[in-house]
Amino acid sequence: MASSTAGKSGFPGELIGSGRAADVYALDAERVLRRYRTPHSCAAEAALMRYLREAGYPVPEVLSADGPDLVMERLHGREMLADLAARPWRAGRHARTLAVLHDRLHGIPAPPGLPHPLGPGERILHLDLHPGNVMLTADGPVVIYWTNASAGPPGADVAMAYLIIGSADADAAPQWLRRPRSAWCAGR
Ligand SMILES: Nc1ncnc2c1ncn2[C@@H]1O[C@H](COP(=O)(O)OP(=O)(O)O)[C@@H](O)[C@H]1O
Ligand SMILES: [Mg+2]
Repeated sequence: MASSTAGKSGFPGELIGSGRAADVYALDAERVLRRYRTPHSCAAEAALMRYLREAGYPVPEVLSADGPDLVMERLHGREMLADLAARPWRAGRHARTLAVLHDRLHGIPAPPGLPHPLGPGERILHLDLHPGNVMLTADGPVVIYWTNASAGPPGADVAMAYLIIGSADADAAPQWLRRPRSAWCAGR
């Protein structure tokens, strides 16, 4: 993948995101490459994303998965977290959207083979479904970052989102939103 997409800089494209385990590059206007920095197979993540898309859940279309490289549809829009910083009066609307994304996900039966790190249950858990992993596009919200997806009880996913939102020190979130953060999960 790297050789066919490498630009003059030696990088596959413009770096548009960087997390703990992977970097995200814009390959062109239609595609991004999510590349793990350590040896890793994206096969399971890609298979789950394809399964979710088939079930009608809003995830980016997977175009290829090869070792640590996941090529997917490039989403155009901004993260819900960035929108919160820019338009904090939309907090209630975004909280409802986040709750609906949780509910819709938890309505889909887990495919076989997912790990159960948080106990028994046969629903799909994202385990990082917070505003930084929701892209707001012209076609609606789309959920990214499926690295931690597992099977288990839906409440564990909501609890995890609550803990992440409550303990995150997100610079993008306006100060006044950080204190009453329990409101994020109150809509459920
Ligand atoms: N399919 C995509 N289209 C456009 N931008 C993306 C896409 N996937 C990820 N990004 C951008 O890259 C950032 C990091 O991606 P993400 O998968 O959440 O990894 P991490 O949280 O580990 O950094 C996202 O917050 C988003 O800005
Ligand atoms: Mg992310």
